[in-house]
Parts: sequence; C-alpha cells; structure tokens
Amino acid sequence: MEKKLIQAIKERRATPSFDGQPIPADDLRMILDAGLHAPSGYNMQPWRFVVVQSGEQKKRLRAASYNQGKVEEASAVIVACGDADGWRKDLDLMLQQGREGGMPESYADQARSSVPNYLSGFSSDQMKAWLNKQVMLAFTHMLLMAEVMGYDTAPMEGFEQDKVHEVLRLPLSYWVVGLLAVGHLKGEDKFDGGRFDMSHTVYGEEFGKPLK
Ligand SMILES: Cc1cc2nc3c(=O)[nH]c(=O)nc-3n(C[C@H](O)[C@H](O)[C@H](O)COP(=O)(O)O)c2cc1C
Repeated sequence: MEKKLIQAIKERRATPSFDGQPIPADDLRMILDAGLHAPSGYNMQPWRFVVVQSGEQKKRLRAASYNQGKVEEASAVIVACGDADGWRKDLDLMLQQGREGGMPESYADQARSSVPNYLSGFSSDQMKAWLNKQVMLAFTHMLLMAEVMGYDTAPMEGFEQDKVHEVLRLPLSYWVVGLLAVGHLKGEDKFDGGRFDMSHTVYGEEFGKPLK
C-alpha cells in the first residue's frame, strides 16, 4: 500500500483529469473487493457495479454524463448501482452464507420475515433512498481503497439516469447511484476547497450543543 488511510483521506481530491493508462486487473479487483466488504442493511448487499474500461464504452458513458471528460480519460469507471429487487433474489443466499459464518438459526428465522416486512412496503422513492445509502458505503470503501493504493479518483453524480441505463443495458430494477472514476492524475490537481470546522457540523449529545 502506498498511503496510510489518514493520508489518503486528507490528501484526496476529486481528480479533474486522468492520464488514461490501463489499470492492472488485480488492482481493480482489489478496489472492487474492498467495496464488496462494506456493511449493508441486513447484509443484503443490494449494490451492483458495472466496470467500464473500453474506449468505446467510456465514450458512450461520457455522452450520458453531461460530456464530463474525466469519464473518458479515467482508466476505469465503476458505475455503482442498486438493485431494487436484490433483496428478493438474494435473501436465501444471504441467509445461507450467514449460517456458514455462524449466524444463529433464530436470527435467520427472524430475518426471513423481517427483511420482506421492512422492504416490500417501500415506495419507489423510499427504495431509491435506501439503495443510495447502501451503495454509497460500498462506493466510499472503493474510493478510499483506490486512494490508499496510490490511485486518484473522482466521484460523479453528473449523469443522466436514463442514458446510463441505455448505455449499460441495465435491468429496469437498477438505480444508478454514482460513477467512480479511477486512474492517475494528469496535470494539475484540483484546488483544496477546505472543510467546515467541526464546530459548524458536529454536536454533542443533542442538536446545538458543542461536542466536548
Ligand atoms: C456524490 C458526489 C458526486 C459528485 N459529482 C461530481 C461530478 O459529477 N462532477 C465533478 O466534476 N465533480 C463531482 N463531485 C466532486 C465534488 O465537487 C468534490 O468532491 C467537492 O468539490 C470537494 O472537493 P474534493 O473532493 O477535491 O475535496 C462529486 C462528489 C461527490 C461526493
């Protein structure tokens, strides 16, 4: 690993431009694998990722992303999606893997009913909000793993849902959450916009009270 996590967190910038060199397959898998280890509600792992590396497909994806140049320049663009039907399809698999890892039968029995009880009543908007939460956590694991490995990254929400669907031929149950461009910086890095002070965004015990 090239960087400590704290260094990767503090030095990371949303990369403005990439050199386009291919990324070794093993490195890409290590980045993806970090995301797949993220926690998720009920461990349902409703995330799905489409990795775009070919020049042609990156060009099409760029056109679906308000013509953002970094989509085409990046070594790889990880398109992070959530599957609204994932929990239906994967409940048995999740429970089976859980049991293999020591999940108590009582927990499995409870999850078999509580997962559908919780998720089946969601409106489409509630499901999107739930997917956004789960998928962004995996996305962030990937982003930080890539940075720790010495890569540069750019998270992106500037894309058109329908157009990305079309380019990637996504199933209707998929919801595109974000694009993660990975590669190496070309040229000057972005300015550091800084962050609000902790006193501006963090409270202790209840709203409005400073953290001691
Ligand atoms: C979810 C998300 C979506 C973003 N979408 C875009 C985008 O579409 N295009 C872009 O140029 N930057 C995008 N950014 C980058 C932000 O503008 C950037 O992270 C922010 O200005 C802070 O800069 P820094 O990441 O370099 O500290 C996005 C960032 C996040 C977290």
